[in-house]
Amino acid sequence: MLPTARSHAPDHDLIIPLFDEVRTRTEQLAAPLTPEDAMLQSMEEASPPKWHLAHTTWFFEEFVLKPYLPSYQTPDDRFAFLFNSYYVQAGPRHARDKRGLISRPALREVMSYREHVTEAISALLCSNRSDRDDIAALVELGSHHEMQHQELLVTDLLHALSCNPLLVAYRPPDPVPPAAETEMGFTHHDGGLVETGHKGTGFAYDCEQPRHQGFLEPYRLADRPVINRDWIAFIDDGGYTTQTLWLNDGWAICRKQDWDTPLYWWRQDDEWWSYTLRGAQPVLLDAPVCHVSYYEADAFARWAGARLPSEVEWEAAFADTAIDGNFLESGALRPRPEGGAWGDIWEWTKSPFTSYPGFRPPEGAIGEYNGKFMINQMVLRGGSCATPVRQMRPSYRNFFYPQHRWQMMGLRLAQNA
Ligand SMILES: [Fe+2]
Repeated sequence: MLPTARSHAPDHDLIIPLFDEVRTRTEQLAAPLTPEDAMLQSMEEASPPKWHLAHTTWFFEEFVLKPYLPSYQTPDDRFAFLFNSYYVQAGPRHARDKRGLISRPALREVMSYREHVTEAISALLCSNRSDRDDIAALVELGSHHEMQHQELLVTDLLHALSCNPLLVAYRPPDPVPPAAETEMGFTHHDGGLVETGHKGTGFAYDCEQPRHQGFLEPYRLADRPVINRDWIAFIDDGGYTTQTLWLNDGWAICRKQDWDTPLYWWRQDDEWWSYTLRGAQPVLLDAPVCHVSYYEADAFARWAGARLPSEVEWEAAFADTAIDGNFLESGALRPRPEGGAWGDIWEWTKSPFTSYPGFRPPEGAIGEYNGKFMINQMVLRGGSCATPVRQMRPSYRNFFYPQHRWQMMGLRLAQNA
């Protein structure tokens, strides 16, 4: 029997609507795609939409239906090999960089696989079993897992479509009203002894726990993210060609990959443009800069006489700020001007993704979810225009490698007080 991921008592009245909402939204995100779109894999890190649709389904099958419902029959035993991502303890799996070659099962077969598993989980959630808390906790985990894949589906799709010279729009262009230019200011924080990490009784991943104390020196945090207007000043001032601004590893990759703008930008008729999920668009000068790596964010901060905040500084500053803003549900699918602390872009922090004091992953395959990735990646905070708002909490930690740019990644400056 699989050990459970249960660290709190799940609220059964909330799990069924959460599960329904999540499964439906993934399908809505995939609805505008052709079967050809659904096959695209533009790089190893990004997966085809069809694979996301199937893998999130396999997760429920592997971790809920197979261990808890012995009578469950999978439509195809081979799906476990095709759609396991990285769970070594769940068995062998297909090569990550070859997911775009899985032309069969066809998209319609993957959609019927989804329906099959959705129906089985829904029936299981309605049964009155003694282990219903364990089942509900795993369905809750699977729903949050699927929300993470909704964001990946959208950002992977952006990367894949950006490789098509036709620059097709996933959603129709939407006009964004011009915003007033705002100076960046800094807010003072006293620091001292602070508590961060997951608080309360709701869902959280193992890596957000346990809540713990830390000490902060006084610091200052910018009152808005870095915007495109700021970034253009960095470009114009030789930010991409001044080696002294860069970390050594960052400079090497900047040279090797010829970085001279954020990902998806180009210059046309004396204007900056970028490719977005709403097609080619002029860069919105007052929207947060997006699609920059940790290395670029770090170089920008040095150029600006500042630094990136630590994740504890970020969390301590914004834990009590209401989580609203431009998330996936807004439908904008790109950062907009005048947002707050939450939404629009994930903000790079200078903190490596490591375990909190007392961290204990669950036993079994579910324990592979976060723990084995705690090396060489940096934490991002705040959520983006591709993040479902329901997955956000003050303690939520996103993490990517410092050279990654295809997520909705930007930054906010900090300074020592
Ligand atoms: Fe996954």
